[in-house]
Amino acid sequence: MTNKFENLLYDENDGIGVLTLNRESALNALNEEVFVEMREFLEMICKKNLKGLILTGAGEKAFIAGADIKAMQDLTEKEAEDFSYFGQQVTFMLEEIRFPVIAAVNGFALGGGCEMALACDFILSSKSAVFGLPEVSLGLIPGFGGTQRLAKIVGRNRAKELVYTGRMVKSDEAKEIGLVLEVYEDKATLIEAAKNLILKMAKNSPNAIGVAKFVINRGIDVSLEEGLKFERTLFGEIFGTKDMKEGTAAFIEKRKPVFTGE
Ligand code: CAA
Repeated sequence: MTNKFENLLYDENDGIGVLTLNRESALNALNEEVFVEMREFLEMICKKNLKGLILTGAGEKAFIAGADIKAMQDLTEKEAEDFSYFGQQVTFMLEEIRFPVIAAVNGFALGGGCEMALACDFILSSKSAVFGLPEVSLGLIPGFGGTQRLAKIVGRNRAKELVYTGRMVKSDEAKEIGLVLEVYEDKATLIEAAKNLILKMAKNSPNAIGVAKFVINRGIDVSLEEGLKFERTLFGEIFGTKDMKEGTAAFIEKRKPVFTGE
């Protein structure tokens, strides 16, 4: 699988996948070819039973420095809308994966790069990470979900301030405003920490995590009433799963559960 893609590297060990955007000469900027490969990769990976997936960027300088400005410059209005839709589809696919997905951000996560990270369950970063949605400085707006997801994560006021100024936010501030979950010394420590977090989660029922992820993600976009309805419906459905029987039986029998994800 690794050799099949020009712009992606994939490594899998002990049920943990590491997907590296590999276009270092352009600071891993996102063009159509990258999205075509990402879509194919995500279609394949979402069918696997992984403990988790880590998304990162090649090299030390950038996670992803945004959409490819050079490739975008001459797009017509219609082509630009289609490109935005493509990016939105890919970020949505990333968000919909049943198992946890962590963005491990080292260096620049700007524009579309920041938007890609926003679609992951968590963002962990190294000290060198720099986040921003600088699109207005190019006469554009964020087009891969940034106008929607950033406000939901850091609140409307902070999102507007960041989008209107296009200013860059370093890792410490990114943690302070709730964009980043935790900051680590360097890239190697960051990747290790992301793997450890996945292993910690993997002690629990993969099925329950997948259902919780679905309910939380959907709940953000609907009224409280609808969200609670989702919650109780899926709370009910989960009682028909093997993992639920196993988890509760293990508690009563005072032993460790063995979850199968069923
Ligand atoms: N698109 C295309 N190429 C890019 C790029 C991008 N987003 N970001 C960096 N590159 C390229 C540079 O053009 C340069 O290539 P050349 O060597 O061929 O000139 C190479 O990557 C290295 O970049 P720099 O020389 O600029 O490196 P630097 O250290 O001086 O600066 C940086 C780093 C601050 C990240 C700077 O590259 C930068 O500002 N990049 C653009 C960031 C940006 O505006 N992103 C938003 C894009 S718009 C978007 O994402 C829209 C959307 O939501 C859909």
